[in-house]
Amino acid sequence: MEIKMNLTAAPKEKPTDESKLGFGKVFTDHMFVMDWDRATGWHDARIEPLAPLQLHPAATVLHYGLEIFEGMKAYRTAEGKVQLFRPTENVARMNRSAERMSMPQMDPEDMLQAIKTLVSVEKDWVPHGFGTSLYIRPFLIGNDETLGVHTLHHAKYVIICSPSGSYYAEGINPVKIMVEDEDVRAVRGGTGFAKCGGNYGAAQRAGERAETLGYTQVLWLDGVDRKYIEEVGAMNIMFKIDGKVVTPKLNGSILPGITRKSILELLRAEGKDPEERLISVDELIEAAENGKLEEAWGCGTAAVVSPVGWLYYKGKEYEINNGKIGPTTQGLYDKLTAIQWGKTEDKFGWIVPVE
Ligand code: PLP
Ligand code: COI
Repeated sequence: MEIKMNLTAAPKEKPTDESKLGFGKVFTDHMFVMDWDRATGWHDARIEPLAPLQLHPAATVLHYGLEIFEGMKAYRTAEGKVQLFRPTENVARMNRSAERMSMPQMDPEDMLQAIKTLVSVEKDWVPHGFGTSLYIRPFLIGNDETLGVHTLHHAKYVIICSPSGSYYAEGINPVKIMVEDEDVRAVRGGTGFAKCGGNYGAAQRAGERAETLGYTQVLWLDGVDRKYIEEVGAMNIMFKIDGKVVTPKLNGSILPGITRKSILELLRAEGKDPEERLISVDELIEAAENGKLEEAWGCGTAAVVSPVGWLYYKGKEYEINNGKIGPTTQGLYDKLTAIQWGKTEDKFGWIVPVE
């Protein structure tokens, strides 16, 4: 794929204090853009200065929510090299999301080339501190200029980058999570497994309720029985119950997280036997009450591995591991981040260098 380059003559100042980056607030100088229409397919791949997008007020994305996205990171190693973590997984998931939303798919090689080329242009923006990275946000929007609800004819694919630190203000300290038993996020047959903006829109009200009560995010229950644990607002969830790591199995309404998959592969490579199965909220609360819920953590690209110290359900708060990070959670965080930041050998072939 040919990518036209239009680089800025006025690069911005890079943040000097990496400890204050937070998540998704600072943006690099450039973005990748590519257009699609049904007649010509994908065309005009380009890297240009980051700027507001010009959209017709009738653009499909603004009315009917045709939007999908990905989240991945570029990491700087101690030697100064820049590397990606399992980018082909993000590329494959983006195409699965596109298929679900009847949006155009892309050649996986082209998608990877676009990500690598943009990160290479922005390599000086990849922060240096351990725990910091360049968060990469590819997204695809429906861009027909009509109010009719029809098969899509125009789309735009964009990639932006944001040097980031911790997703949560808590950092690696345990977060407080509220089990949501009123709203549901997704149902089987819906779009839960796709990374589409609408899923996050449907989650907003419960998220706000949780924040008002002092909780960082919501733990969703399944939309059919409202009984089984699904995932958290921006991460998958895992528990250690009575010595065993368990996580909800993928059922079509949960996002198949790449961090989730990597942790399961890490544990299996160590000869452990994590379970992917139905976990009812009753089982979880019972385990919390009788001391068998040893640890809980969320996992995702932005949040990495994030311990859960408190669970709130039906007016009661349950403390997990005295509100402290547990040994399994800490171990997984250490092992995963060591691979991502190139501190240890990558035996799995997960790392893709950026030239
Ligand atoms: N679940 C939801 C709803 C998410 O937004 C994310 C973040 O991407 C995840 C799970 C974790 O997915 P991944 O590990 O691929 O980042
Ligand atoms: C990610 O972890 O990459 C995500 O997409 C989470 C996001 C909703 C902040």
